[in-house]
Parts: sequence; structure tokens; C-alpha cells
Amino acid sequence: MSLALTPKGGSERVLPRHVAIIMDGNGRWAKKRLLPRLAGHRMGVEMARKVVEHARDIGLECLTLYAFSSENWRRPADEVSDLMGLLRHFIIKDLDEMIANGIRLAVIGDWRALQGDLVAMIEDAIARSSTNTAMTLAIALNYGAQQELVGAVRALAARAQTGALDPATIDLAMIEGALFTAALPQLDLLIRTSGEQRLSNFLLWQAAYAELVFTDTLWPDFGAAELDSALAAFNARERRFGGR
Ligand code: IPE
Ligand code: IPE
Ligand code: MG
Repeated sequence: MSLALTPKGGSERVLPRHVAIIMDGNGRWAKKRLLPRLAGHRMGVEMARKVVEHARDIGLECLTLYAFSSENWRRPADEVSDLMGLLRHFIIKDLDEMIANGIRLAVIGDWRALQGDLVAMIEDAIARSSTNTAMTLAIALNYGAQQELVGAVRALAARAQTGALDPATIDLAMIEGALFTAALPQLDLLIRTSGEQRLSNFLLWQAAYAELVFTDTLWPDFGAAELDSALAAFNARERRFGGR
């Protein structure tokens, strides 16, 4: 992991290279309005679209959005089905426009286990956007950080078993290379909405030195201005990476 030190003090604005967001609070947003949870998820997708646009406009290199966790399968079947429906709708309706606006799509997690038509549409969008350079949008789908680490361990162990890899040579870079995020920049800032202060199995390895920002705002109420305040908070932090 290359731990580039960011300048501190003064008025210099440093944009994090990679921001990740745990988009939480759709259900509570709906409940407050006596609406079904689906209405909250719909507004959540709308907010994701706006935040992606704003992140691209300000020149962020990479934005990762936690859309569906490995543990979200524990929800009632009708909610899971609503979420998959919204994902399908997002891919069909919003993703093309994002790709036309220069966004490169990446997906992290065990997304190949999703329904076949979703997998095919995602593969197609990844391929079509692979040469785009405006911003990388990484969507975490069926993602769990512990499962990601299990996968990495298995991949390295399989190579060791064939004799292709000497276990004594396994280092940080090799493990990072075996994670879903191998091709993404180092995570600088992790934001969670809705007042919960936990990581919920998101980017556990990658968050080693990320700055954390928690906000009480529910995800459908987030908005461009709130992303800007999180970026300002990031700017005010002194990152030391264990140094002095
Ligand atoms: C986040 O909102 C969306 C997903 C997890 C898919 P929630 O559905 O978790 O909303 P709350 O936490 O119940 O308010
Ligand atoms: C985390 O939110 C997952 C996503 C935002 C996709 P959850 O609502 O699933 O997390 P917990 O259950 O409150 O920890
Ligand atoms: Mg939640």
C-alpha cells in the first residue's frame, strides 16, 4: 500500500483519490414519511445518481458505493426482490448516461452470483466503459469484506499448493492484488450516513488508514453539499499513517 502523505496545514485543498460511501438509512427515511421501504430505496438510487454526478464534476478519481452487502440477503424476500429490481432499473436507465459522461464502471463483491440477466448487463457495462477516464464508479454488490479476504486467502493458497507461490513471499501487495479492489486507488475517505457508526463488513482491509466521516443524515437526504462537507472534513484532518 503506497501511503502518500497529504500536505497539511495552510489552505491547500487536497481531494481524496478514493471515497467510499455506506449509503444507509433508506428504510428510516421512508418510515419517517409513513411510506413503504421501497420508496426510500427509490430515493436512495436517485441520490446515488446525483452524488455520482457531483463527484465526477469535482474531479474525484474513484467513488465506491455500498449498494448491497453479503448480509443483506437476510432481509425479507420481498425487500431483496425490490432491491434487485431497482438495481436492474438503475443499470438500464442511469448507467448508460453515466458511461456517456465518461464514467468507468467497476463492481466489487460476489456479483457474478446475482441473477443471470443482471450479470450479463453488468459485464457489458464494464466492458463498454473500460476506456473511460472521467471517474471510476465502483459499486459494491453482494459484497462482504470478510468474504473478500476468504477469497484472497483461497487464491493464494491454491497457488502455494501447486508450488507456484512460496508462502514466505506473501506480502501486503500480494494480498491487495488478490482483493476485489486491486485495480482501485488506495481508500482515503469512508463516509457512512444515517448515524450508525460501524463498518458493516465494508472494505475492512482497505479502511486501514482511511479517514472516517459519520453523518446523521439519512442517505436519501444526503446531497452534493453534504459530500462537499465530508471532503472539507477530510481536508481538515491530519493524516499521519503511524508517523509523526
Ligand atoms: C440502505 O438503507 C440500503 C441498503 C442496505 C440496501 P437501509 O435499507 O439499510 O435503511 P435503514 O438502515 O433500514 O434505515
Ligand atoms: C450496510 O447497511 C449495507 C449497505 C448500505 C448496502 P446495513 O443497513 O445493511 O447495515 P447494518 O445491518 O445496519 O449493519
Ligand atoms: Mg441500514
